[in-house]
Amino acid sequence: MAFNEKIQTDFPQIAELYDGHKITYLDSAATNLKLKSVVDKLSYYYQKECANIHRGIHTLSEISTDKYENTRDLLQKFMNAEYREEIIFTSGTTNSINLVAKSWGEDNLNAGDEIIISEMEHHSNIVPWQMLCEKTGAILKVTPVNDEGELIFEEYTKLLSEKTKLVSIVYISNALGTINPVKEMILEAHKNGAKVLIDAAQAMSHVKVDVQELDCDFLALSAHKMFGPTGVGVLYGKKTLLDSMPPLFGGGDMIDTVTFEKTTYNTLPHKHEAGTPNIAGVIGFAPALEYITEQGFDKIAEYEHMLLLYGTEKLSSIPGLKIIGTAANKSAVISFVIKDIHAHDLATLLNKYHIAIRTGHHCTQPLMKKLGVSATARASFSIYNTKEDIDKLYDALKKIIELFG
Ligand code: ALA
Repeated sequence: MAFNEKIQTDFPQIAELYDGHKITYLDSAATNLKLKSVVDKLSYYYQKECANIHRGIHTLSEISTDKYENTRDLLQKFMNAEYREEIIFTSGTTNSINLVAKSWGEDNLNAGDEIIISEMEHHSNIVPWQMLCEKTGAILKVTPVNDEGELIFEEYTKLLSEKTKLVSIVYISNALGTINPVKEMILEAHKNGAKVLIDAAQAMSHVKVDVQELDCDFLALSAHKMFGPTGVGVLYGKKTLLDSMPPLFGGGDMIDTVTFEKTTYNTLPHKHEAGTPNIAGVIGFAPALEYITEQGFDKIAEYEHMLLLYGTEKLSSIPGLKIIGTAANKSAVISFVIKDIHAHDLATLLNKYHIAIRTGHHCTQPLMKKLGVSATARASFSIYNTKEDIDKLYDALKKIIELFG
């Protein structure tokens, strides 16, 4: 049974034929498929309303400015931010994290200060902090994960101290699907006076995120993992923090006045949005936010959980297949290895059966090392997937195993 009867029309790529075949798309953790309404909105902007924003006093500039700023309003509601100025548009999660590391981090961290991350972080939530540590002399501490791929909470609390200035943690692991207890982690970090950044790239289209309820200080997300356009993301930050941060980029829109002697900066959110942004992308993000809200997180979570349970049961029944990442609290991602078959060979052969999965280290090399694998095959699901997609994966894997004898 499909998520709803309109799903094929909502996501037209599902029905598309490639060499006469539909593709079973099981790579939503890499990027999820795009809504028709998103593509239509992008196209409408480019075909009929193209103009720059915040600059022209002419009809088209006013229309595009209104639409761009409307997405900010929608996002404020979507994540329940207190102020619309707390939503900064970036090019994606990686960009958002780097903005915090370079602007807030370089301004606030000194030698001996500590940053806590975890062993399951994506490289984009490791490398910016390493770069910051190199620059400031701060120290990176890493919370370990257990064999199931769950963060060890007691070890996390042991790492916290008055030296901790920042905790930067992934909400949902892209490689394993583990859902971290971020609310409890934020509470513990705040007891020690540390700020917390949540990498919510994999979370935003799967679980309801309320930044005031979480009380996170920063949160990073990407539109392309929410059925929206690529090249658009958000940095959410508490207003006082964003206000105190120096701009990372200088240029148009982020200034108040410029003279050769001195420049003063614009107010939030523009201070952190230098230059012409991805106007079309931001405008095109709006229908994705409306769609997710309309469907409701309860319904989304229930459907995806059904897929996870079904997929886990089916794949576990394949002799020689081992699921990597069996956290009790997990989103619809199944990472696995099959004895004597390299993950890349699996992906190549699955592609011949018109099934798209991702294989490799998933930009989480330290996690792979910890779990004793060099690579995994990862099937990741979204609302447009069905039990039949999982059956196709199951049948193809059985045939591939037979082929390898
Ligand atoms: N971070 C994305 C993934 O997990 C690209 O595939």
